[in-house]
Amino acid sequence: MEDQRLNGQVALVTGGGSGIGWAACKAFARAGARVVVSDVNEENGNRVAKRLIECGHEAMFVRADVSNAADVEHLIDATVAAYGCLDMAFNNAGIEGELAPMADYSDAAWDRVIAVNLTGVRLCMKYEIKQMVKQNGGAIVNNASILGVVGFANASAYTAAKHGVLGLTKVGALEYAASHIRINAVCPAFIETPMLSRVGLTTDPVKREAIANLHPLKRLGQPEEIAAAAVWLCSPDASFITGHPLLVDGGYVIQ
Ligand code: NAI
Repeated sequence: MEDQRLNGQVALVTGGGSGIGWAACKAFARAGARVVVSDVNEENGNRVAKRLIECGHEAMFVRADVSNAADVEHLIDATVAAYGCLDMAFNNAGIEGELAPMADYSDAAWDRVIAVNLTGVRLCMKYEIKQMVKQNGGAIVNNASILGVVGFANASAYTAAKHGVLGLTKVGALEYAASHIRINAVCPAFIETPMLSRVGLTTDPVKREAIANLHPLKRLGQPEEIAAAAVWLCSPDASFITGHPLLVDGGYVIQ
């Protein structure tokens, strides 16, 4: 049976066309929300929105590059024009960037990773919060990473951006608590999505096992496990939680 915790509420998911974002769109819809699927990839984003609608949910696609302020402003305007408000947002869009030691890390890759993974979250928060302040309430979840909490060799830009996302989460939570806006983050470990296969971590069986074994639970996470945490943090069940970086990491960080 479908749960209806978020019945009729409006949920926005950035990077909704793939991986964790796709799973989150499904999870928000199954909890009863009307879902705005956003992505820079129109084909994937449209496909996800279409599938939700075919399954009887209310959904729409809005293209936005989260690193572009005009796109993000339009995304929030289009959401409010279609559904009247914005109750919750999962700022999930992100890229992996290069894997290289700092001395060899290209400036172009650094700039793009910071633009999408850090400035993108900031821009989304900025326009989401403006709308949520008008409504006097809302819930935001940012997708950080275990690399918002610990370091990882060869991923300087990604790690710096994700540490920054947790900083934005805490500052936003402090600034907007009085407006009844809760702002939290999820910190996934290695999750089986196209991002991991692109960097060759899940396609090669030896590397895949090595990565799985980094987690005390001895496996990779699944996108649905992150989606469930994001929906829970947005739901009334988490009504006294704000500014929290929720590890969804199979025990990675406790070692
Ligand atoms: P993915 O590559 O499957 O999905 C990312 C989505 O974001 C894609 O649909 C892509 O088109 C979209 N996107 C990329 N740049 C964008 C932009 N500028 N504007 C709007 N959309 C954009 O990757 P995955 O794994 O689902 O990642 C989602 C989030 O989870 C990212 O923020 C990532 O850093 C984070 N994460 C992923 C982990 C993993 O192991 N897969 C672990 C920890 C965090």
